[in-house]
Amino acid sequence: MIRLPAREYAHRRQALMAQMTPGSAALLPAAPVQLRNRDVEQVYRQDSDFQYLTGFPEPEALLLLIPGRAQGEYVLFCRERDPERELWDGKRAGQDGAVRDYGADQAYAIDDLDEVLPGLVENRTRLYYPLGISESFDRQVSGWLASLRQRARQGINPPVEFVALDHLLHEMRLIKSEAEIALMQAAADVSAKAHVRAMQTCRAGLNEYHLEAELEYAFRLGGAKLPAYGSIVASGHNACILHYRENDQPLKDGDLVLIDAGCELDCYASDITRTFPVSGRFSPEQRAIYELVLAAQTAAFAAIAPGRHWNEAHEAALRTLTAGLIELGLLHGELETLLEGEAYKPFYMHRTGHWLGMDVHDVGHYKVEGQWRPLQPGMVLTVEPGLYIAADNLQVEARWRGIGVRIEDDVLVTAEGCRVLTGGVPKTVAEIEALMAAAGGEAA
Ligand code: GLY
Ligand code: MN
Ligand code: MN
Repeated sequence: MIRLPAREYAHRRQALMAQMTPGSAALLPAAPVQLRNRDVEQVYRQDSDFQYLTGFPEPEALLLLIPGRAQGEYVLFCRERDPERELWDGKRAGQDGAVRDYGADQAYAIDDLDEVLPGLVENRTRLYYPLGISESFDRQVSGWLASLRQRARQGINPPVEFVALDHLLHEMRLIKSEAEIALMQAAADVSAKAHVRAMQTCRAGLNEYHLEAELEYAFRLGGAKLPAYGSIVASGHNACILHYRENDQPLKDGDLVLIDAGCELDCYASDITRTFPVSGRFSPEQRAIYELVLAAQTAAFAAIAPGRHWNEAHEAALRTLTAGLIELGLLHGELETLLEGEAYKPFYMHRTGHWLGMDVHDVGHYKVEGQWRPLQPGMVLTVEPGLYIAADNLQVEARWRGIGVRIEDDVLVTAEGCRVLTGGVPKTVAEIEALMAAAGGEAA
């Protein structure tokens, strides 16, 4: 299975430390274990920032970076080996493993954290950490500071400046390296195959959850441990519910089905939406709406290149969608006036995309100093226009009601423009109908 190489993590730590002020330290805790119900745990997912800097997959761990420290700059606190616990819950790296396999310069037992940590940061003036994200971690940091203050007369100077670590780290995460791009391409390929599988399986009489099962089977076959977010399989009117999650309705001839699903590989997300007819053939109204959304996506792609700003793709999609809605008779008036008045809002109420990376809605600012951010090579974003005509929208002819379409792809900004990572799933009406007809033929 594809994984990031250890040198990638070492490089990130170095890059972060190079941006920290001299005489500072950084702290970052691993994600806590979450209970699902009673004593059953949620499947463990490492915190994305912690994973980004360590690649260390265990809970109950803490990263400490101390730039310039002679005895080692990278200190990892983690669980001790414990044959009894490992028999029940699985292997632990322990302190030897943290050094040997994860590149730590020094490792300590997490049980000794309160005793050891204050001494490691005692004369550091500035502390970077995820401020105000977790109450329990804020309390822990306060406790360490209190213990240092008690030793003031011994000449100990506790840190006096506290800086949110997120900003430096999230700016780094926004620009993807070659290795990250390869991993995101692999995740995109697995998700693309899953969507193809769902299209091939789809037929009236099945339920939305049958398609969800096909998707998640394909994710697991591709080596993904988890979907990157809750899969949406929304047929008929359900497609107009943006974050529909029930996935429990029968698939009916004549309806469309909207699938928004992507897997996560080595903590990197993919995020794909396709909308296709249950029967394999679009009705004229479904086709018209679908082709308009596809045209909006094409217009958005054309607005993605280095130097173009973040919002240009959204603006291009809005213009195409609004013009198309006028042409179809779903909006009435003059294009510029309708755009200005946001007349598209009843049909298109979300934005055209978001950053994509370790988190499906990834980190990174969209505006810098009040201005939409210019795109740079290495940024990855989604492009996901849609149209949703509510079943109870009496402003439009009955034939349009209840149609919901979204088309979503993952896109890398390149030196020349952009590259679609999720091109492995059919997207035009002709391609989708051909794929579904071939699958139906095989099944017969
Ligand atoms: N799947 C969530 C989104 O598309 O943003
Ligand atoms: Mn998305
Ligand atoms: Mn999505």
